[in-house]
Amino acid sequence: MELGGATLAYYGIGVAALMTSLATLRRRLQLSKAKNRSLTGHARIGRRIASLVPFYEYNETEFFCSDGAPPETAAKRREAFMRLSALFKARFAKTLKKTAEVTADISDLQFTDAYRVPFQYSSVVRENLKTGAFMQSSSGVMLTDLDGNQFYDLTGSYGVNVFGNDFYKRAIENGVAHAQALGPVLGSYHPVIADNVKRLKAISGHDEVSFHMSGTEAVMQAVRLARYHTRRTHIVRFCGAYHGWWGDVQPGIGNPVRAYETYTLKEMSIESLRVLRTRRDIACVLVNPLQALHPNVNAPSDSSLVDSSREAYFDKEMYTEWLCRLREICSERNIVLILDEVFVGFRLAPGGAQEYFGVRADLVTYGKTLGGGLPIGVLCGRAELMKRFRNDRPADICFARGTFNSHPYVMTTMNEFLRYLDSPQALGFYRDLDKIWNLRAERLNKQLQANDLPVRVANISSIWTVCYTRPSRYNWMLQFYLRDEGLALSWVGSGRLIFSLNFTNVDFEIVASRFVAAAQTMKQDGWWWHDPTASNRTIRRQILKEMLWQRLFGRRPSPRPR
Ligand SMILES: Cc1ncc(COP(=O)(O)O)c(C=O)c1O
Repeated sequence: MELGGATLAYYGIGVAALMTSLATLRRRLQLSKAKNRSLTGHARIGRRIASLVPFYEYNETEFFCSDGAPPETAAKRREAFMRLSALFKARFAKTLKKTAEVTADISDLQFTDAYRVPFQYSSVVRENLKTGAFMQSSSGVMLTDLDGNQFYDLTGSYGVNVFGNDFYKRAIENGVAHAQALGPVLGSYHPVIADNVKRLKAISGHDEVSFHMSGTEAVMQAVRLARYHTRRTHIVRFCGAYHGWWGDVQPGIGNPVRAYETYTLKEMSIESLRVLRTRRDIACVLVNPLQALHPNVNAPSDSSLVDSSREAYFDKEMYTEWLCRLREICSERNIVLILDEVFVGFRLAPGGAQEYFGVRADLVTYGKTLGGGLPIGVLCGRAELMKRFRNDRPADICFARGTFNSHPYVMTTMNEFLRYLDSPQALGFYRDLDKIWNLRAERLNKQLQANDLPVRVANISSIWTVCYTRPSRYNWMLQFYLRDEGLALSWVGSGRLIFSLNFTNVDFEIVASRFVAAAQTMKQDGWWWHDPTASNRTIRRQILKEMLWQRLFGRRPSPRPR
């Protein structure tokens, strides 16, 4: 009888162990299903594969016919390339000279220079189509370089520039004057901070505010607080989303350290919702609403533009529905929903993405433009989540400091920005904002179509990206033609055009006609010659083959005979 009882007990333990293992296996499978099938979706594998990609580059002959173009097209491309090269050297002489003087000493510059175009083409481009790193002045929607050349500013200063450079100049000037009496005293606050807090609480709809020095730090603090209060370990971020360059939110390529406590899941996927519903170790979900334009894909930089598969399309209704479902599940499961508005906040609506999508997060991060032109990161949240200590356990704290947090000059300049948000002029910018920018995108697309150009733009309000409609290996050349037309892009190239809201219809029409002219010249110069049998898939296969040959035999396969 006793033996029977013991057997039964062992049996019971066995069954329980089996059930636990099955449940763990089920959760593991759910997690696998919730990963995007790309390398971006598999951070660890992505990093490993990236470390195996061999360097190789095209010589000056291959450079012009890497897609198998016939000799006459290659010659046309070469002639155009050399024409642009001579033009850039003459037109940007001083700017390029100054850039050359500092490049060896500024690591950032070396990086951006190397990753402006796909690596196989990089050194020929660097040699011949040098890009100046300097600008001298800004006015209205224009930038002027050291040679006096004027460009329409489509860089958006990484997204900071929402209201136009002149606004930020004034904000800094007034902010500095306002902070002058206190000067750079840190630790004590400038009195203006009380007004900033009042306004940020009203905008975010939250109880408390903390000030940081960058968007990255605001996100770090949001995640740390979520872990502290939930006592859970893991972060969920969505595939391709950028949340600053801190390790835990950047688990893949670019970060040499593994992020052990980060789940990278598919955005806008029912499988990801299932993971949120079943796992118990998830402290928070981080959302960057900019991904609505290209869910599950990295920021669209021209250095990865090896074919024409870049896609972008924004459906506000669908993304709002996704955010609502996330909100629902996070509430159900006590997971902290963090809306990272560092990029889009104040660009989409005066109340930021929460207002724009009609969703209230538990913690919200802001940055970039909120500093009125100076460096900033801000976190707003519910009081119980923002608290950094426990009343019942005095040694159990959630530490966060930063020497320059709440810098008086930043606080006074931020105040200029926040007060401006309430001005009739700022409210005027937000009136019909999406309608204006969608119409502009539509107009440009019509012009591109009418001219039979294989280029289209997609946008989320004033944030634009360029897509290419016909398979090609040379789309990245467009950034240089745009530069030639006096359009200044950020170093990531045609993947991100950011307009400030002070672009008038007249400004925009000029930009649009220059954009079309740039694409027309590029087409005439033969870069969009198209092998009718080529597809994006065959291009990628060809590149993979080149990489394998390079890795295995130290050379590339012979070009296809024509
Ligand atoms: C959504 C988002 N979060 C965080 C950051 C990091 O901000 P910062 O560059 O100020 O550290 C960025 C920067 O681009 C961002 O776009």
